[in-house]
Amino acid sequence: MAKRVGFATRLGAIAAAVGSAVGLGNIWRFPYEAGANGGGAFILVYIGCILVMGIPVILSEFIIGRSTHSNMKAALKRLSPGKKYYLFTYVCIFGSFVVIGFYSVVCGWIIEYLYQAALGRLGGHTPQEYSDMFTALVASPWRCVGWTVVFLLLNFLVMSRGIAKGIERVASVMMPLLFVILIVFCVNSLLLPGASKGLNFLFYPDFSQLTMRGVLDAFGQAFLSLSIGISCLVTYSSYFKDDTSLTKDATTVAALDTLVAILSGVMIFPAVFSFGVEPTAGPRLIFEVLPGIFQQMAGGYIWAFLFFLLVFFASLTSTISLSEIPITFMIEEHNMSRRRAIMWTALFTFVLAVLAALSFNVLDDIKMWGMNIFDIMDYAASNIFMLLGGLFTAVYVGWILDRKVVHDQLTNGGRLKPTVMEPFLIFCLRYVAPVSIFFIFLYLTGII
Ligand code: PFF
Repeated sequence: MAKRVGFATRLGAIAAAVGSAVGLGNIWRFPYEAGANGGGAFILVYIGCILVMGIPVILSEFIIGRSTHSNMKAALKRLSPGKKYYLFTYVCIFGSFVVIGFYSVVCGWIIEYLYQAALGRLGGHTPQEYSDMFTALVASPWRCVGWTVVFLLLNFLVMSRGIAKGIERVASVMMPLLFVILIVFCVNSLLLPGASKGLNFLFYPDFSQLTMRGVLDAFGQAFLSLSIGISCLVTYSSYFKDDTSLTKDATTVAALDTLVAILSGVMIFPAVFSFGVEPTAGPRLIFEVLPGIFQQMAGGYIWAFLFFLLVFFASLTSTISLSEIPITFMIEEHNMSRRRAIMWTALFTFVLAVLAALSFNVLDDIKMWGMNIFDIMDYAASNIFMLLGGLFTAVYVGWILDRKVVHDQLTNGGRLKPTVMEPFLIFCLRYVAPVSIFFIFLYLTGII
């Protein structure tokens, strides 16, 4: 079995978990989901979901990972000997491929915008021209696939350098910078004429705008954004040290992740309303709106370049964590060398990502339920795989796992004082999460 190395510092471990959580899910997907589902009411459900399901499931993944210092399959075998729960790992592995498949296409778009910003082309256009620019990008199979492949090559190059070094360094420098630059853009967006409409859309909860599908989307978005439900945080926390406070780390990760999502909303929606873009524009939303914000600012193209560079790094730390799920699994469960595991993971990922990239052009007539391949992967990843994984994790830790393991992990073997987190966690895991997710699945299958 490969030798496991821990994160060098507590900050390194948290930075890596935050690096996984904060990414395109916050900056690209959160605004478009909020926009498509009416704004304020969606955000309230989203925040509620983070509190009663997100944090408990993060903690559960941490408990499984750190108590065994193993990947999900080995962990479940160790925690429940003789039982078949470990089979769920295969769902997680498949789910991680689906996420990375569509996700790397968006990362490719980010690189294209980074390139355009470097050439100074993200300025001096009308909102319609920015919209046409994005349409031209996705309509071109070469550009779409090309940038996706460039991104994947970079991703797997970084992966081949090993977990602690690569991830820790990138994440701990880039995240604070991204945070600062988001605030700068929020201020600029808020100064646009008619900005208050955007704030109203974002913070005034109009429940008449929220459908059952919107609630499902809010749950899925919360799970995707927190990186939970496909064992990513099991893998990461398996590298945590034994004196880390899991409760503190889980709440820090959730709080920072939510903050970045809300800041992205504050950056995007005032501009959406000011420029007259449809909030329901979907995956293209931020690409239509952001250039307009940059061009209002002095030295706009430098800001644009910096912004896309930081988003690129935020995405990279997320895809690294995603790729680490199958890689660690192959190394530890199938005795593969790291190189070989990376090669196989890269190969599967390339196939899915190319299909997703082609679904806007060459394969755009392949549609199911009105969605193209990219949309199906995007929808299935969060609303099916991650929710299903969340349900499994909640039921496993809430009902099946020995309570002593939970208690030991939350108190670090008695070294930390027990807090209300433990009964709260158990209540949420036993009742709140399973019941809510179960109802959502009933709805999804058309039973209610
Ligand atoms: N949480 C990441 C984001 O918001 O961009 C996406 C993600 C990373 C999902 C890792 C799942 C995962 F395992």
